[in-house]
Amino acid sequence: MKELSPIEWNNFHLKVLDQTLLPFQKKEIICKDYEDVAKAIKEMKLRGAPLIGIVAALAMAMEVKRSGADSYNKLSKVLYKAGDELVKTRPTAVNLKWAVDRMLRIMEMNKERRIESLKDLLIAEANKIYREDLENNKLIGKYGAELIREKDNILTHCNAGALATAGYGTALGVIRAANAGKKKITVYIDETRPYFQGARLTVFEMAEEKIPHYLITDNMAGYFMSKGVINVVVVGADRITAGGDVANKIGTYSLAVLAYANKIPFYVAAPSSTVDFSIKTGDQIPIEMRSEEEVKKIFGHDITLPKTKALHPAFDVTPAKYVSAIITEKGVIRAPYDVNLEKVLKNREAAANL
Ligand code: MRU
Repeated sequence: MKELSPIEWNNFHLKVLDQTLLPFQKKEIICKDYEDVAKAIKEMKLRGAPLIGIVAALAMAMEVKRSGADSYNKLSKVLYKAGDELVKTRPTAVNLKWAVDRMLRIMEMNKERRIESLKDLLIAEANKIYREDLENNKLIGKYGAELIREKDNILTHCNAGALATAGYGTALGVIRAANAGKKKITVYIDETRPYFQGARLTVFEMAEEKIPHYLITDNMAGYFMSKGVINVVVVGADRITAGGDVANKIGTYSLAVLAYANKIPFYVAAPSSTVDFSIKTGDQIPIEMRSEEEVKKIFGHDITLPKTKALHPAFDVTPAKYVSAIITEKGVIRAPYDVNLEKVLKNREAAANL
């Protein structure tokens, strides 16, 4: 079966599977420039921290091709403008700024090169960011599957799967690897109000691969944990601080506290590009506030009085103390996170013995 991928890139245009229509329709849109990509990110036609980083880099590669810039100054003007606009689309997922900064750094570090050679280098870098993500997810899956026991019932929240990355997924990468390892797992999927990434996207991925699963509403998680049905939680992340606090889809913090109270391991799966070493604690993470309409309507139908005031923080922060381990492409990292994240991700010390 062809591996699910949310995008197709032909080095000119970006074909995007419109995730607002899944799982009921498989429709693709074509993005021809960074404005198209920025619009698709804002409208959640594509979403997920690693994926919005990847498409930002590919959008900058599109601008390199389209720009016709014949000097470093002209090219740098084009790319800084595109980068700024892309970073403004959504504030919480650090992967977006990480990818834009990586592209701009490559440009600055090679400003002496002939312009055509610099352009080739930038396009190659964007492709590298895209390719690396899939490789990283396979490693995250491999390391994470070692934490999963035979017949585990795994709860996951939102969609941290192939649809949120270059493919395979982070949290769903762990689930895919455990399933491939014949661990006879069953997945419990939070519907993930208000945007239903769980009910629409994660169910879609699990059904496509025939991995056993149940859909539950977000407020059922505590019940199934207290009954000893759910025995491990695996989620993704949008930003992890140097101290190990984790921002992820709204509702994740509640799950972490429930897991802690029920002595259930709570794992976070994320590539190292999701770790923001510039901030120590979660209160410094910008939380996206999205439209209240996304709370008050389901598929365009009012579920409350139209004049009702609603609030919609799209992410929350789980303090490090509730996180049993962080699963990265460099291995499984445990507390104290302020020491071990640095050790493993910065000093390249092997995670195995931590
Ligand atoms: O608003 P979304 O759908 O972009 O939120 C996505 C999540 O919270 C994911 O769990 C996170 O980005 C990790 S994706 C591998």
